[in-house]
Amino acid sequence: MGVHTDIRLADQGGKDADPAFRADVLNGLAQRQKAVPARWFYDRTGSELFERITSLPEYYPTRTETGLLKAHAAEVAEIVGPGRAVVEFGSGSSVKTPLLLGQMDAAAYVPIDISGDFLRQSSAELAAKFPDLPVIPIEADFMKPVALPASVRGFAMLGFFPGSTIGNMVPRTAVDLLRSMRATLGDRSHLLIGVDRVKDIGRLVAAYDDAEGVTARFNLNLLTRINRELDGTIPVDRFRHVARWNAEWNRIEMHLEAVEDVMFDVSGRPVAMRRGETIHTENSHKYTPNQARLMLQASGWSPGAQWSDPEADFLILLAEATEYRSAP
Ligand code: TRP
Repeated sequence: MGVHTDIRLADQGGKDADPAFRADVLNGLAQRQKAVPARWFYDRTGSELFERITSLPEYYPTRTETGLLKAHAAEVAEIVGPGRAVVEFGSGSSVKTPLLLGQMDAAAYVPIDISGDFLRQSSAELAAKFPDLPVIPIEADFMKPVALPASVRGFAMLGFFPGSTIGNMVPRTAVDLLRSMRATLGDRSHLLIGVDRVKDIGRLVAAYDDAEGVTARFNLNLLTRINRELDGTIPVDRFRHVARWNAEWNRIEMHLEAVEDVMFDVSGRPVAMRRGETIHTENSHKYTPNQARLMLQASGWSPGAQWSDPEADFLILLAEATEYRSAP
């Protein structure tokens, strides 16, 4: 087996490519339903396009959640109290995080992100805005339990997980993550989480398939990235962006659909796709408030206060680590 592997590696181009990217793409394209994990969207172009998505007229979540934080961060601060270490899962967005920290009287801010670049940039921005606040970035995959540094271990924690990122996981993985956050943050901790709500399907689909075509370019950019970094020959113009509602799973799915039969290779490996066949690239699950609360309870969190907008588009929930005790 070693010999085969060596020959294949020697033959393929793109040798500087991230081996995890190559493995994810090759494994994903070998599945019956082809799929590539959504984390690979975010090369430089992808990150810029995503930034533009967040201010599109159809994309309501970012501005709605920002409005909710503006209106209710003071109440959050009041409930959790001063002297908390605020632990953010994912790179702190330059808009949302200050809205929370500005009300909090926090003891420290601990952003966790897998991308060191984003982490350094957002940490520097935050430190400039809050010169008296210790900022302690951690470069780690927050899908696994994270060891917090000794300097913050004494504090009660407030986890912050905005953006409905929880919706990008299937419920089973979402529960794994919420349980892992409970372990990372410990007893006496709180979690403030943003969740996108179930709503009119037309509006949901439009949010992921905008008139200007920015989300389409964001999705298709994944193929361009594969071509560039993994020596791919994918005919990008033979694919189209599709956003569809999956009623069984309560989620928007993004796919890349072949508009005719295509053949291409990636890292020297041939791939064939039929017209109409798709590569699944993203899920965005939507929840009712009751579903969101049940998911938190199933993960060791007791949901308390929650806030939503008048349109009932988006929800932020504040939960408290459930005490371990023997109970009926
Ligand atoms: N979590 C957000 C959402 O599902 C942001 C997001 C992640 C997103 N991937 C995306 C938005 C792809 C548009 C397209 O809405």
